[in-house]
Order: sequence, then structure tokens, then C-alpha cells
Amino acid sequence: MNYKQDFPLLAKNPVAYLDNAASTQKPKVVIDAISNFYETKYANVHRGLYQLSEQATQAYEDAREEVRTFIGAEKQEEIIFTSGTTASINLVANSLGDLLLKVGDVILLNPTDHHSNIIPWQLVAKRIGAEIQWFDITADAEIDLETVGEKITPEVKIIAVGHIANGSGIINPIAEIIEHAHKHDIPVVVDAAQSVPHLAIDVQKLDCDFLAFSGHKLCGPTGSGVLYGKEKWLERMEPWQGGGEMMSEVSRTGATWAELPAKFEAGTPNIAGAIGLAAAMKYLNGIGMDVIHDATNEIYKYLMIELQNLDYITVLGTSDMSKRNSIASFKIAGAHPHDIAQILDDNQVAVRAGHHCAQLLMECWNVVATTRASVYFYNDKNDVDLLIAGLQEVNKIFK
Ligand SMILES: Cc1ncc(COP(=O)(O)O)c(C=O)c1O
Repeated sequence: MNYKQDFPLLAKNPVAYLDNAASTQKPKVVIDAISNFYETKYANVHRGLYQLSEQATQAYEDAREEVRTFIGAEKQEEIIFTSGTTASINLVANSLGDLLLKVGDVILLNPTDHHSNIIPWQLVAKRIGAEIQWFDITADAEIDLETVGEKITPEVKIIAVGHIANGSGIINPIAEIIEHAHKHDIPVVVDAAQSVPHLAIDVQKLDCDFLAFSGHKLCGPTGSGVLYGKEKWLERMEPWQGGGEMMSEVSRTGATWAELPAKFEAGTPNIAGAIGLAAAMKYLNGIGMDVIHDATNEIYKYLMIELQNLDYITVLGTSDMSKRNSIASFKIAGAHPHDIAQILDDNQVAVRAGHHCAQLLMECWNVVATTRASVYFYNDKNDVDLLIAGLQEVNKIFK
């Protein structure tokens, strides 16, 4: 199936786009949904008593319903629109942190995660006087499930963990971690930035307390994102940001809060972003999340085999493909990842080079940076072949 034809950029541009973990390309249906909104329905939401505003509000709330069904949440009240994973995690870190943490309490984190799931927690820990502790990591850069139980001491009040590590592509055992945590009534925040685009997620089955993700990594627009939270937590949490729409009554001495989800959506939201995100979810559902997963996995397996065939390449992380998704981080002895990416760019191949906002993962691997190729369902074998041809050039230059 040639999915590239759905994507105006990919249909016109011969680039082998292999930086999907950073952001995905946009299908025409998403671009059209956004321009159609601006061309035919645009007004601010929730506040106008005129038809255009009512239509815009309807479209915005329909988008929330699309997100709710996409991740299997029970209620629309549990879907908070944000500007992305980073904003979602900052929201939950501050608001849940204030609710649950006191001096000496512990937040348990995963060192192989993106900085977005580390720094917000470090900031809140510093502000409150709480402490950060870390899951143990195996030599293959996996969370060591054997020691998870002993990490959950009585001081642990919050666990935050990524579902798929963006630097390695390793799928973390979040179901097992959630089960362990819930034996002690500890809420688990899941950074699903790399998993919602690839796996059919059902938050009720998974039983996570919070789930954060970005629209732009699943064919939606930049500046759109979601924080899912169980209603029982969101009800108890104080808003993190104040402003219009999140309040019920304001007096000179204080304010009371709007009902969920408005309580956590201060100010004019990214209306077009939410509508574009819903269009992306409809598009992915139209293909089927299982088909998306299988198409991505097929090209991913091809990528991994082709990389492993090159004796000058070391692919980092576990070799167990059942524990990996869509991402290959690799190194070539004697060649800096920035040089590798530059040569690949000269060969029309777009990959990422650097620490991937995961410096603690780099530390586990004892490197400062890697080259990362990441695939999505619209990539084809030709993209991988171009990458391999580019890497042969790299090898010629650096060997
Ligand atoms: C696992 C993970 N978490 C968080 C983020 C941050 O997402 P955003 O920049 O969209 O907020 C990313 C982005 O690469 C990611 O891969």
C-alpha cells in the first residue's frame, strides 16, 4: 500500500524521511481539516452566543470525543487538551506534585526517558523538597523488572515512566509497573509520546492514572497534545495555570474552578490544533491501528536486518524485536553522529543525530550521541535502501 500519496510533502519530495520519532508528516486530510476550520467555522470557543462560535465549540468538543474514543477513556472530562507531551507532563508534575508530595517523599523515574519526563519532576521535587529515585536499567537499556518491586518503597508517592523510549525504541513493561504501583495506591504517569502513534492504547485496560502524548507525532499538527487523567485524580488536583475559562467565580480574595476538563484549560485553546489532531486520529483509525502497527513493524524489521548486516554499525539496545518499536539508534566507530547525519542528508536521507533529549540514556550506553533512524507506516523499503546506501558512503569516508 502506498501511503505516501496521502501526504503532500512525501508525494512531492524524494526525501527518505526517517525522523518520525521527532515528528511525523501530515496527510492532506489533516491539512484540509485545519484550513476548512479557518475558512468556514472559525471563532473562539465556549464564549460566543453566536452561530460561528457555537460551531467552533462543537468542532472542538467533537475533537475531544474523538480523542476519548482513540485512547479508550471513560469520560470526556478526563481528556485535557495541551500543547503537547511536554506541557502535559509539566501540568501533571506540578498539579499532582502539589497534591501528593511533601518533604522527603520520592518520585520514581526511568533514566532512559526523554527529558520531558525527567526535568518537570526534578523541578517539582526541588520546589517541594522531595527526592528523585530511578528504576534500575539492564545492560540492554531495559528497565530491570526484577528490581521494580524493591524500588517501590513507602516513600514513593508518584511513578512516571515512558512507554516507548524515544532514544532506543525499547518498549517498557508499563503494565507490570502499573500493577506493582497500584498494589501500593501509587499513581503512574505514562509518557506515551512514542506509543500512541504506534499501538492501539486503551487507558482503561492499561489502568494508567495519567497518559501524555503529542499530536504532531501521530500525523497531527504541532502545538496539539493531550493529558489523559483519571477523573478521581483530576477532581482532587488544583489547576496549574490560571486564566479565562478555567474558573467558575472570581472575587477579590480568590476564585473557584470550572468543572473538568475546563479547569485545566486556561485561556484560548489551540482550537485548530485539536481539530487537526482529531482529523489525524480519524485518518489513522480509517487505516486501522493494527494495520499501522504491522506496516511500521514490517519496515522496521527490514531496517534492523539491513543495519545489522553492516559490520561497521552497532545498533544500541536489546536485540529482542518483540521489545522494540520503530526506532534504531546506532553508532559507527570513528564517525560522529552529526557527520553521519550530514552525509546522509547529502544523500536525501533525513535522520536524527544527537542525544535525543535523553542524556541519561546516552550515559547508560557510554556515548554522548547516536544516529537515530525512526520509521512510520508510510515509509517503504526504498527509504531504508537509501539510508543503507548513504551509510556505505559514510563508511567509505571514515574507515
Ligand atoms: C518520549 C517522548 N516524550 C516527550 C517528548 C516531548 O514531546 P513534545 O516536544 O511534543 O512536547 C518526546 C519528543 O520527542 C518524546 O519522544
